[in-house]
Amino acid sequence: MYRRGLELESDYPALLEMERQSWRINFPGEYFVERAFRRELEFASEHDIHIYEEDGDIVAWLWLDLYAGRDRAHIRHLQVAEPYWGQGIGRFLVNQALLMAAEAHREQLTLNVTKSNLRAMRLYSRSGFVVLRDMGERQHMGRWVPPLEPVPDSSLGAPR
Ligand SMILES: CC(C)(COP(=O)(O)OP(=O)(O)OC[C@H]1O[C@@H](n2cnc3c(N)ncnc32)[C@H](O)[C@@H]1OP(=O)(O)O)[C@@H](O)C(=O)NCCC(=O)NCCS
Repeated sequence: MYRRGLELESDYPALLEMERQSWRINFPGEYFVERAFRRELEFASEHDIHIYEEDGDIVAWLWLDLYAGRDRAHIRHLQVAEPYWGQGIGRFLVNQALLMAAEAHREQLTLNVTKSNLRAMRLYSRSGFVVLRDMGERQHMGRWVPPLEPVPDSSLGAPR
């Protein structure tokens, strides 16, 4: 799978379709305002949105705010295209977020999740997230970011 930054104009139709589905899962009965979604993407930092592709198709996307707090990164959204569910890609995205957070020297990774979204709840609890704040139908979860492993000198190819 190939990772790249957001290309708003060409990615927008696919992301919009995915977001509509996510909205139905996470905010059932609430009206989806497309203009608000479009504006959020337009104002997002190009470094925060990561698109994962396979053979030109968008398989998943991750919106990670690395500067949500002093030492905290926040997953604003992550989503896997439905034909690819259940193959470990959700777990892979969480690991990507942890890695990028560690590279940016963040200590904590947080997210908000809808309690009725059982797939996402399982993904996050099995990825080590715990509830930090109960917000009724949603909850704020977080976990510690493991620091990057230092590369051992021996693997850098010591001179003979
Ligand atoms: C939630 C979502 C990202 C999971 O992606 P995924 O690629 O299917 O996840 P994975 O294959 O990595 O599975 C991760 C965990 O999800 C859970 N899971 C997988 N298939 C499941 C199923 N059929 N039912 C319930 N949970 C399931 C499992 O706990 C799994 O971990 P395990 O294999 O260690 O048991 C995906 O369903 C999605 O994009 N949903 C719509 C958008 C959304 O709601 N995003 C979250 C916003 S907070």
